[in-house]
Amino acid sequence: MPKQYVLFGRPLPRLGSRHISLLLVTISLFALFSLLFTLPSAIPTGPSLQIADHKFSIPKSFKSPWVSSFSPFKQPAHAPPHQKNDTYAESSWYANWKWLSIPFSSSLTLDENRQLLPVLQERPPIYCYYDNTLKKEAAVKDAESELLLTWRRAWWAMGFKPIILSPAEALHNPLYEELQKRDDITPAFKTDLMRWLAWENMSGGLLAHHLLYPMGAYDDPLLTYLRRGLFPRLTRWKDLDDGLFAGAKPDISAAIKQAMASPNLKAVNDMLAASLADKDANSPFFVDAVPHALAYYSTREVATNYAKVGNAITGSSPSVGLTQLNQLITSHLHLTWQNLFSSGIAVMKPLPHHTTHMIGPAYELALRLTHCPESPMAASCPPNRPKCSPCVSSHPMKIATPAHYTNTSSLYTIGTVPHPYTAATLNALRDSLTTSYIRRSMTDRDPWLADLTKELCGAGVSGAPRVMRFKSAVASPHGAAHTLWLLAERRLPDDLDWHFGFDIPTEATWADEGKSETPVPGPERRPPPPQHDPKDGPVASPDELQLEPPLLARAQAIVGDAKTKSRATKEELAVRSAVEAWNLADTEAWRFARAYLDRDTMERKKWEEEEAKYAGGMGSEKGRRSAGGWER
Ligand SMILES: *[C@@H]1O[C@H](CO)[C@@H](O)[C@H](O)[C@H]1NC(C)=O
Ligand SMILES: *[C@@H]1O[C@H](CO)[C@@H](O)[C@H](O)[C@H]1NC(C)=O
Ligand SMILES: *[C@@H]1O[C@H](CO)[C@@H](O)[C@H](O)[C@H]1NC(C)=O
Repeated sequence: MPKQYVLFGRPLPRLGSRHISLLLVTISLFALFSLLFTLPSAIPTGPSLQIADHKFSIPKSFKSPWVSSFSPFKQPAHAPPHQKNDTYAESSWYANWKWLSIPFSSSLTLDENRQLLPVLQERPPIYCYYDNTLKKEAAVKDAESELLLTWRRAWWAMGFKPIILSPAEALHNPLYEELQKRDDITPAFKTDLMRWLAWENMSGGLLAHHLLYPMGAYDDPLLTYLRRGLFPRLTRWKDLDDGLFAGAKPDISAAIKQAMASPNLKAVNDMLAASLADKDANSPFFVDAVPHALAYYSTREVATNYAKVGNAITGSSPSVGLTQLNQLITSHLHLTWQNLFSSGIAVMKPLPHHTTHMIGPAYELALRLTHCPESPMAASCPPNRPKCSPCVSSHPMKIATPAHYTNTSSLYTIGTVPHPYTAATLNALRDSLTTSYIRRSMTDRDPWLADLTKELCGAGVSGAPRVMRFKSAVASPHGAAHTLWLLAERRLPDDLDWHFGFDIPTEATWADEGKSETPVPGPERRPPPPQHDPKDGPVASPDELQLEPPLLARAQAIVGDAKTKSRATKEELAVRSAVEAWNLADTEAWRFARAYLDRDTMERKKWEEEEAKYAGGMGSEKGRRSAGGWER
């Protein structure tokens, strides 16, 4: 006879095998459910886990209270705290390392308009010393000022914070007094020591000559190492002479003291010579291998390899020579960029049927980038890449307008991200969208992103993983170095020169290349860029093309900032919200691109303000040309 179990003094009913299996099923169901409902909050959602999908990131206005109280994907109770400088223009953001694991920002920020962005990489300072107190011809000062601007722009684009030091910083150094009293030091060596004193006062880091330029890939190992900003030893580079030094403050102080105590100072003119002259002492420098990503236009280099420019500098009008040198360096920076992207430029055109005008500014930018830069020595190569392939106007870089994004290292991608309202207006080719029209005819969600990532993600993938791949293409270190994403509703940013690191040639339209002197403002009066390959999608007829510009202008007013939005009617704004709710991933992509672009602009503007206190009028912006005539 089976054993009788007793609980609280009462006999338990005997369980038959049917009872037991029922109990087991209940228990396992319970276990399964509790596992399902607690798991997502317990493990971090990686990009590959497609858990948080559309329905849990619906904007608040569309969420029923039931969804949020029932939701097992527990949301944080409070919005994350605000960070320093986290708003600019229309954007607001929250920088956090989770940016690539949460597809829809609002599920963390609890605010539809606050985007999750990657943490901003700290830019290590790179210093150069320029004595702005020396008496020089005004034209020479201007030419040098332009060179310094080129220097700052190139290093900024590579992720550094370029800062120009002047004697003012050297005066702060306690050793300055001592240096002035010494009469056994040659004037040339005194001048060189001044830059070391200024550098020491900034606590070290990188000290470059203003004729040293980064000319290599953004992710070149040396540039990556320099960006880390940690220098355990005082370092110089083989064949670079005094082009670049790296080191921390104590090592710099020691080197200065050692040089000033060196026995035979009468014959030396700079730190390097002083360290070599003192045979008994250990050299304070560690010498690193020849750097392939740095180009140094030293006096010797220019005199031997760019003699035409060198002769002009030493000739009767040095300012002309210096202007030529600036042009030469700018052309080499541009050429290096062109050589790195040997497969050409892809101007993204998803939903290609009616977006021809929309991608106009991006296409114009691509054309300008493929132009051969003006140069006093057209076929010359940068000093660090003697085997470059010079730019030939008859064989410019290729520009393609594919619909799908492909991740190719030798291809530069320029994207134009439309707000889903803009995309819907253009796609429908009608100026008055209504909620009922949207309900009836917008069958696919997120059409823009789906088309863009078709090759990357394949078909049958939901919006969340697509938006992650998009964000990675925009803002991951690899993505940021290979792509640029613009907004369809805005004109081109006017600081693109700082993004690329060189002055981008201005005059370039597909209609009258090089012939027209006056740029024609406004997309309405511009011819559209050439059509895409028919295999990417249907090609618009001339009549259809004509409809695009006014639609684009209307969409811009509705999607744009507070100022233009006042021109939109209530219904239009309601439709806009409905379109956003229907296309959550497209909306997220657009907001992300906007916030990323705005933060970039803000970072540079802020630095420009800071820099004003060092530069002392250096690197004037007067040479900067506006970035094309796209007034939208
Ligand atoms: C950034 O923040 C600092 C201090 O909070 C402020 O002084 C500065 O104006 C801000 N810059 C911008 C561009 O908002
Ligand atoms: C640089 O100069 C300033 C101004 O005199 C001084 O307060 C500061 O201590 C100096 N910094 C270093 C690292 O020498
Ligand atoms: C593109 O490829 C690189 C490596 O080649 C990879 O690190 C990166 O994550 C890829 N980007 C995207 C968006 O897939």
